[in-house]
Amino acid sequence: MSFRTIEWRDNKVIMIDQTRLPAEEVYLTYEDYQGVAEAIRGMVVRGAPAIGVAAAMGVALGAREIIADTFDSFYRQLENVCEVIGRTRPTAVNLFWAIERMKRVAQKHRELNLPSIRELLKAEAIAIETEDLAICKEIGRNGAALIKEGSTILTHCNAGGLATAGYGTALGVIRAAHEAGKGIRVIADETRPWLQGARLTAWELMKDSIPVTLISDNMAGWLMRKGEIQCCVVGADRIAANGDTANKIGTYSVAVLAKENRIPFYVAAPISTLDLSLKSGDQIPIEERPSTEVTAIQGVPIAPEGVKVRNPAFDVTPAKYITAIITERGVVRGDYEEGLAALVRP
Ligand code: MRU
Repeated sequence: MSFRTIEWRDNKVIMIDQTRLPAEEVYLTYEDYQGVAEAIRGMVVRGAPAIGVAAAMGVALGAREIIADTFDSFYRQLENVCEVIGRTRPTAVNLFWAIERMKRVAQKHRELNLPSIRELLKAEAIAIETEDLAICKEIGRNGAALIKEGSTILTHCNAGGLATAGYGTALGVIRAAHEAGKGIRVIADETRPWLQGARLTAWELMKDSIPVTLISDNMAGWLMRKGEIQCCVVGADRIAANGDTANKIGTYSVAVLAKENRIPFYVAAPISTLDLSLKSGDQIPIEERPSTEVTAIQGVPIAPEGVKVRNPAFDVTPAKYITAIITERGVVRGDYEEGLAALVRP
């Protein structure tokens, strides 16, 4: 990849600042967990798997700051660190998955001295990042098999290298299909209000010379009706046991339009995005973000001052609109309840 989303270097966390792309390619350095928590909340780093990696690295940084005589005192303080990081963004389950994984490492090694535990936490955070890249490549390989030669693929938001440790989930499928020489083209929804599609997806696909055309969100239906789109591939922030999928606001509209136009609608996501403790999408917490994201674009007001605003950052696409869910362990179709459970069965 020609950029690095997030990296642990010299006991610091380095992230590309996604709030400033594509105008500027700036890397920020974080030395404490509070900074990492702010970076997640402020969307310097965003996208479910990347948020998971950032959370793990934040916990590892936090562990370095803790002063304690006993494991119990260390662990109590580590739980506080986890709580601060866990309060940043509620929808992407990867954040909580990563935090729990970090806590388990500390607990498992409670007999060791604190410097050793800190080192193990650092190693775990780096492992989460390394694994994520490999997982994205597997998702890409599994998904590319579903893509027909010469397809134009619509994607929403950014589920690319910027949303993961690299390569991407939805964009991983697209990258793998492109690398396999399938002659694909991409339509990127701009993805109001935060413009992940325009600012990030278009940027990273152009960097890799993958043909991409940008549209505003309200154009997708018309292009589908005109036969200009052969399938849709999107990422996910949380997938419930029945296959209902939370992803960036606007995904639901794309899925309904795809069904109406008989176009396959694929969700690509790692196993860490599954939340099988939730029966259905109705139980997925949906983040509401500041109204200024809707009333202004890049700081320029586009609405009358004081107007009432709604800004849910995600929506839930019911499983009946999803043709298949693509994971690193395989592709699930039809009975999601059984298929997803089978993926995680030991
Ligand atoms: O608010 P964001 O930018 O974090 O939302 C990101 C998305 O909705 C992505 O599609 C999702 O996290 C999948 S990323 C591989």
